[in-house]
Amino acid sequence: MSNRSLGIGIIGCGDIVIAQHLPALMENPAVRLIAVCDANPQRAENAALNCGDVYHTTDYQRILADANVDAVLVCTPPWVTPGITIDALNAGKDVLCEKPMATSVAEAEKMAAAERQSGSLLQVGFTYRHGPLMEALQGWVARGRLGRPLQFRLGIFDELLDPEGNPEHYERILNTLHHGPPCIHDGAHAADYLAYLTGSSPVRVVAYGLTSRPEFPSPNYNAAHIEFANGDRAKLEIGWFYPHLPKGEFHILGPGGMAYLDRINNEAVIIEGKITERVQLSEDRARSCFRTQLSKFTDYIRMRRTPVPGSREGIASLRLTLAIADAMATGNPVEMKQEGIM
Ligand SMILES: NC(=O)c1ccc[n+]([C@@H]2O[C@H](COP(=O)([O-])OP(=O)(O)OC[C@H]3O[C@@H](n4cnc5c(N)ncnc54)[C@H](O)[C@@H]3O)[C@@H](O)[C@H]2O)c1
Repeated sequence: MSNRSLGIGIIGCGDIVIAQHLPALMENPAVRLIAVCDANPQRAENAALNCGDVYHTTDYQRILADANVDAVLVCTPPWVTPGITIDALNAGKDVLCEKPMATSVAEAEKMAAAERQSGSLLQVGFTYRHGPLMEALQGWVARGRLGRPLQFRLGIFDELLDPEGNPEHYERILNTLHHGPPCIHDGAHAADYLAYLTGSSPVRVVAYGLTSRPEFPSPNYNAAHIEFANGDRAKLEIGWFYPHLPKGEFHILGPGGMAYLDRINNEAVIIEGKITERVQLSEDRARSCFRTQLSKFTDYIRMRRTPVPGSREGIASLRLTLAIADAMATGNPVEMKQEGIM
């Protein structure tokens, strides 16, 4: 394998594959797309269009049985991802699975066990941890430039409510809400940012949820306060399915200054006294992060090293987001056992 490009299969060919994974794969000379699979034949066929000599199938086992495929991207919804990922690991394929890796810790732990037992590698798609902006924020925090304790303020507002204009999107997000509130889905990224930036573990969560329409099966507005073992705190807001969406937020306040991620201008900024420092990206952040994620995946495969973020980070993220869901459901604070420092 060392002298040839990595053979890749994709399982699950929805929005994120078409928008980001496929373009990243097509421009990476270290990989060769061999096959795509989707349970929906139209989606499988559509993904294979314009990808050259690539076959499409509705049966992911065909891809797992293909000796030309070294690794797979599992880009299915999180209630489907665990079974396919475990089959892929057991078939000897290295896996990059989308976040969240599962909707329960028990399933995520089964995936981690399959990774250990098979010797295959498992990376988790916390895409936006990669790249210079998040690395800059992490470096500023780790070097103590903001002081401690830190207050994180994260706000994510997504999935515009437009049932008449985009009925397919409405049905898909409604179905996702049947598998848990947005803190479990978009919250997976937020929980991973917090683990990466605080370098600590959550110990206590208070949260509440609001359901803006009676037909929504779980609260579509989620708010949480999170305490970390090192004294840092976070305020997290996630809102889906509103007809108007506020701007997102990503601020870190500390005794020594403030840092933030500006998603509109593609920059990370730190303000310390009279000094303002910026790290800017000259290209679209999503595109850059997906490209970096893929090249890290291929590096881990070549070096046979445990990917980061991998199952350990995936499980840590899921523990926090499920604690938020639990605190929202019961109205009671959730005390979390410390699972070790990241
Ligand atoms: N890393 C990121 O930044 C990022 C961004 C968006 C979405 N995601 C995650 O990626 C995953 C997919 O999201 P999406 O927006 O593309 O969803 P989507 O619903 O558009 O795509 C999922 C696809 O999986 C297919 N599928 C379901 N079960 C299958 C099976 N058994 N075999 C083969 N295909 C199957 C569906 O037919 C669908 O086409 C989700 O877990 C989501 O949270 C990650």
